[in-house]
Amino acid sequence: MRNGETIGPALLELPRTEVRPPNIGSWEEARKGFAWSVAERELGWGRGDPVNIGWNLSDRICRLGRAQKPALVWEGAEGQERCYTFDDLRVLSNTMAAWLGERGVGPGERVCLFLDRVPELYLAFVGILKLGAVVQPLFSAFGEESLATRLLDAGTCCVVTQRKHLPKVRRARTLLPDLRLVVVVDAGDAKLGEGEVAFDLDAEPRVESYEVFPAQPETPSVLHYTSGTTGQPKGAQHVHRSLVSQFLTTKWVLDLKEDDVYWCNADPGWVTGTSYGIIGPWSNGVTQVVLDAGFGAERWYSFLEKRRVTVWYSAPTAIRLLMKEGLVPVRRHDLSALRHLASVGEPLNPEAVHWSRDAYGLPFHDTFWQTETGCIVVSNYPGMPIKAGSMGKPFPGITAAILDLKTFEPIAEPGRVGMIGLVPGWPSMIRGYWNNPAGYAKKFANGWYLTGDRGTVDADGYFWFVGRDDDVINTGGHLVGPFEVESALLEHPAVAESAAVAKPDPVNMEVVKAFVTLKPGREASPDLELEIMNFVRKRLSPIAMPQEIAFVPSLPRTRSGKIVRRVLRAQEFGEPLGDVSTLMED
Ligand code: PRX
Repeated sequence: MRNGETIGPALLELPRTEVRPPNIGSWEEARKGFAWSVAERELGWGRGDPVNIGWNLSDRICRLGRAQKPALVWEGAEGQERCYTFDDLRVLSNTMAAWLGERGVGPGERVCLFLDRVPELYLAFVGILKLGAVVQPLFSAFGEESLATRLLDAGTCCVVTQRKHLPKVRRARTLLPDLRLVVVVDAGDAKLGEGEVAFDLDAEPRVESYEVFPAQPETPSVLHYTSGTTGQPKGAQHVHRSLVSQFLTTKWVLDLKEDDVYWCNADPGWVTGTSYGIIGPWSNGVTQVVLDAGFGAERWYSFLEKRRVTVWYSAPTAIRLLMKEGLVPVRRHDLSALRHLASVGEPLNPEAVHWSRDAYGLPFHDTFWQTETGCIVVSNYPGMPIKAGSMGKPFPGITAAILDLKTFEPIAEPGRVGMIGLVPGWPSMIRGYWNNPAGYAKKFANGWYLTGDRGTVDADGYFWFVGRDDDVINTGGHLVGPFEVESALLEHPAVAESAAVAKPDPVNMEVVKAFVTLKPGREASPDLELEIMNFVRKRLSPIAMPQEIAFVPSLPRTRSGKIVRRVLRAQEFGEPLGDVSTLMED
């Protein structure tokens, strides 16, 4: 393991790439006297231009003279292609906004996008913001229970979906009194029920001019659901001002320039797919390409080659899968357009950084952030030496520190483990959890925003990830809340008690493992294991499905009766069990 070895920019000199100075200039210089108003000025705030994110992603870019430039180049799983210019984006998002408004959707109401990565997902996202409504993107692989939990909590009034997801929406709908409108973007000749309406983007009259909702910086914009240790998922509420930091971090960390072709392979059901798969690139007026298909090394390399992708934002699990395929498929493709690579979501192992430098001639740059931060907060910057395995340094304008786990005071000495804390107040920090002020209040202590992640900082100011401070499972960069899995397990007729914990996995970093006690008269068997797994997959999602179920006679509990996941997790990772003095003896 070459952990911590520095990869300097000198090693990046590649004959095939044109070397241009990074947008950030130098990290040290950018940090001096930094103010977010740099970005506000570039966005035209103060000149009276709309603050509304939807307008900024489309109308503003057209006004900059890029109306005919491709905004979205889309490719489907069967190789279908669509291209939308920034003018199309402007007009079609107007169309969506006006159409929803005419059907009674109003500012501040929650509109859910429950779609695969089809063009309508991207266009409707912008349209919903123009309308002043709150956009709630959800991963289309969610089962009806995951869907219903999040729609119920948000009091969502409208779901935009596809024919293939209608059965799930219909089943969830029985539990959702606030859901008035289900929009189907590919209804064709499908028989629609009450409250279900077809919307055909190609057939709808195009709305050339639309008065966007006069959003203020603090007007709610995007609501992303994220998992915690306790309780159901929490709705992380962002506001239109988030644009300021999403715009600037995209420019400085992802280094997007006007002629780039950018690919973020994250689904907009997760925050990476919105902050950097919609808002970041389009606010910078950059062309982005989308592939609505799952992972496949050959498919991905062909896509990178065919689309001449220059900047690619990916994730460690995908990189590990590509590493498994080796160099042969890499060499079969011309990836010479690539010039910058970045990664997010899980620890990026040093091997992956070195491998990508060997395979693509470019190292992946790790970036660290969360649904709650809304933008990258710690990162490796183009032009700054990378320490392989480190997450890099705080973004200019972000103050990060390692905090003592008990006092939440910053720790001065390098290398000591503590909680990664941030000084609150950057533009894209969440403004609350929906309906959950107590949960939000717990995110702060001693004047710091608490990430819930443990880390260290070294003498050069580089941050290193150590692990999460809670029981949340990070599987392939997707957070799974143990409570949600346990609740689904308990709904199975054979299950008496359950605990869901992380189990190490060579590709996904972690997967869900469930410990289950059975009701009297039920026998453990491989068939029952499979049955319970499928039960959870259907209700929640393939990601939240336990990859293994251990049938046990009892679960470790504290004397007060609380199940202690930490002991089960430590066993899975072969770690010391920690303080077990409060555990109940069997
Ligand atoms: O535990 C950290 C891990 O992912 C969490 C945030 O997950 P989510 O809110 O779903 O947002 C993911 C995409 C921004 C963090 O609290 N995480 C994220 N980036 C990294 C990471 N862990 C290690 N290294 C990273 N670069």
